[in-house]
Amino acid sequence: MRIIIAKDYDELSKKTANLLASQITLKPNSVLGLATGSTPVGAYNDLVRIYKEGDINFTEVVTFNLDEYYGLDKENPQSYYYFMMENLFKHVNINKHNIHIPNGRAKDIELECIEYENKIKQAGGIDLQLLGIGRNGHIGFNEPDVKFLDEDTIEANSRFFTALDEVPRKAISMGIKTIMHSRKIILLASGEEKAETINSMINGKITPELPASVLQLHPDVVVLLDEKAACKL
Ligand code: F6R
Repeated sequence: MRIIIAKDYDELSKKTANLLASQITLKPNSVLGLATGSTPVGAYNDLVRIYKEGDINFTEVVTFNLDEYYGLDKENPQSYYYFMMENLFKHVNINKHNIHIPNGRAKDIELECIEYENKIKQAGGIDLQLLGIGRNGHIGFNEPDVKFLDEDTIEANSRFFTALDEVPRKAISMGIKTIMHSRKIILLASGEEKAETINSMINGKITPELPASVLQLHPDVVVLLDEKAACKL
């Protein structure tokens, strides 16, 4: 794992956007794995800025998002589809046929997951996967030892909803194996509330209780932290 420590959230966002932009420059038809949540918002803003300055082109870029809440329509402002449109896709010249986000309203979830995996394979696999990390060490919605969303995740994500019981209890997520098959991974963390988890992920044992710890086994991971998230290292 390569660890890069940025001064603060703004610097973390700029560095991430620059890495994503370099990936697109080096390989214009890159397959990007993308994350939602608060952490990558700044990076997406900066990536849009780089695009508007004319330095990158999304026409051949293909994207696969990590996850989607189960039961939410695309139009729901809390859906990850909506998040991606607002924060990135509607601002750049990406071909809408190249955007992939799990369908939270799929009737047959098993089939949706199989087809999603197949599409990733058909696209040639993920070149660069962007990840955030939950306070409990989840990546995507791969929770410690459980199949439903963890109580801590529901509590953390309730900040985007008006009430705790509005947060969906289930999600469709890219699995750990698919994430591990990505050629490169960039994991982002910002803020002191992630510091303990980041330290365990990097220096602790590899355990399903902290799903992100499996990244220790991946050959090309960059962990991009701000100083607060790095303060327990
Ligand atoms: C989002 C995702 C989640 C988040 C994680 C951190 O697509 O897969 O694993 O990356 O919950 O979320 P934030 O960035 O809001 O702290």
